[in-house]
Amino acid sequence: MMLLLRVLMLSLLSGGSARVVQNFEIECGQFFANGKSPTTFAEPQYRQICQTLSNVHYYATFYDTGKKIPLYSAYKFEGLMDCTRQDKWYIEPQLDDNNASPDMKFEKDVKKQGLGVHQALNDDYKNSGFDRGHLAPVYQAESQSCADATFTLTNAAPQNLSFNRGQWRKLEENIAIFLNSECKLYTVYIVTGVVPGASQIKNRVNVPSHFWTAYCCLDNNKKCQFSKGFIGENKNITPKEKTVNDLKTELAKLYNVASFEFFIHSTQR
Ligand SMILES: *[C@@H]1O[C@H](CO)[C@@H](O)[C@H](O)[C@H]1NC(C)=O
Repeated sequence: MMLLLRVLMLSLLSGGSARVVQNFEIECGQFFANGKSPTTFAEPQYRQICQTLSNVHYYATFYDTGKKIPLYSAYKFEGLMDCTRQDKWYIEPQLDDNNASPDMKFEKDVKKQGLGVHQALNDDYKNSGFDRGHLAPVYQAESQSCADATFTLTNAAPQNLSFNRGQWRKLEENIAIFLNSECKLYTVYIVTGVVPGASQIKNRVNVPSHFWTAYCCLDNNKKCQFSKGFIGENKNITPKEKTVNDLKTELAKLYNVASFEFFIHSTQR
């Protein structure tokens, strides 16, 4: 009886919120190198999401409910899986309703007045001329359900379609092929993000100026044995290759902050 009460109390206190969390470093820290999340910002429009499908956490996303795009998603690479693309997109019910299900859902299955106040919906992308560009990509997914879980609009931002289907896709594939052959002995962490831009689609969803990604093949001594970063403007040009440190410096400038960190407590080779 006491136990039941405590469970009840706990679930009341947490608002049933397993998915949009207060601190994703605590709730799903397994997606961050050395358990440390990339830099987060404190402004109230940001949400920390443990991306959950059928009660399983697949990756973590730092989401901007004002611009209605993720700033970054963080995930592990566990080998090439050759998953099928479902092309059915989920949304995150909890962004518009604290008491909603902790699982991602199809928009049609969420009955809620005011849905989309805090997130992009499928209509925002319709006829916009932009693709729903994945941050955590299908190509680097660890399982079919993980691939399915990347199809949520909280993991996507408006991406130039020739970029998404061209140079960016090629980059995702090249990184996956490299990691698959060179980093088998390590634990591989990836962070992929965007830099918000100056325009919007449907007057609602920010169109990023840049897409960026970085990986770290972490050894048992918490060092990145291999690491690299890439950043490209949101058009179909080959993204620039950078050291992780140079990418951090460039992102700090673009985000207009003193520093922007990820793969913390690790050293680049
Ligand atoms: C998308 O990228 C292509 C190639 O870089 C460019 O010609 C085109 O103008 C871009 N489209 C938009 C909407 O920015």
